[in-house]
Amino acid sequence: MQIIRTIKDMRAFHKILRTGNKSTGFVPTMGALHEGHLSLVRRSKEENGITVVSIFVNPTQFGPGEDFNRYPRDTVGDLEKLSALDVDAVFMPEDGEMYPETPPAVSIDVGGIGRILCGVSRPGHFNGVATVVAKLFNIVMPDRAYFGQKDLQQTVVIKKLVKELNFDVDIIICPVVREKDGLAMSSRNSYLNPEERKAATVLFRTLKLGEKLILNKGMDNTMDVKRKMEEMIRSEPLADPDYIEIVDPRNLQAMQDIRLPAALCIAARIGNTRLIDNIIIDKK
Ligand code: PAF
Repeated sequence: MQIIRTIKDMRAFHKILRTGNKSTGFVPTMGALHEGHLSLVRRSKEENGITVVSIFVNPTQFGPGEDFNRYPRDTVGDLEKLSALDVDAVFMPEDGEMYPETPPAVSIDVGGIGRILCGVSRPGHFNGVATVVAKLFNIVMPDRAYFGQKDLQQTVVIKKLVKELNFDVDIIICPVVREKDGLAMSSRNSYLNPEERKAATVLFRTLKLGEKLILNKGMDNTMDVKRKMEEMIRSEPLADPDYIEIVDPRNLQAMQDIRLPAALCIAARIGNTRLIDNIIIDKK
């Protein structure tokens, strides 16, 4: 497994690997790798001759006062996990390699899609994500790139980015990977103390309640379902909900009457940790 720190070396290494018409799968990450990330790497390994993973905690997607400085970093552990999966290359640039100017001289504005849901409390976040993903696509030049459905809004933003800027890359969305008790895996789960970790299961329980109301009880009014879901999350004293929304998973448009496919999306603070989760309900 090659560890690469510069854009020039990444391009040179890829040129050598690419001989023989192998396709390249790419898994962009911010490190602190968990089973969710590793499921993306395994899928890429299954579907491509070459797999490249990036580890870069992208400063432009963190707002002032967010957790950029304390975001979990575990380079040694990450490299061990990736080496065990026989990844071909890990691209680990420094901030100055990715962003020669601070703030960056050029960045991408994803428009309204970046201002709804998580964009309300994280203004500019999705512009930062789109900017770094576009740069990474230009550096790694993958055929396929793998993202987790846990960050549903991010996946919709990236699909839009690829369409609008004509990137020649297939975006593959992989299922949410959960702990045994339903909590969606996230690098930020490591911030939770034991009491908060228990309380954090309320996100998934609330999503499952919404799913049951729609599929088993036949409820089709968004406000009614959201009200019941809100009652559940508020019953957990450590949870402070940011939003509960029911949207079309293809474009994140809110719906008044529930039609399938529908995405139930939730964001909440558990103590000081902001967590997100979603489930997509589709016709059987
Ligand atoms: O999902 C993430 O970890 C990040 O948003 C990404 C896609 C690696 C961009 O920094």
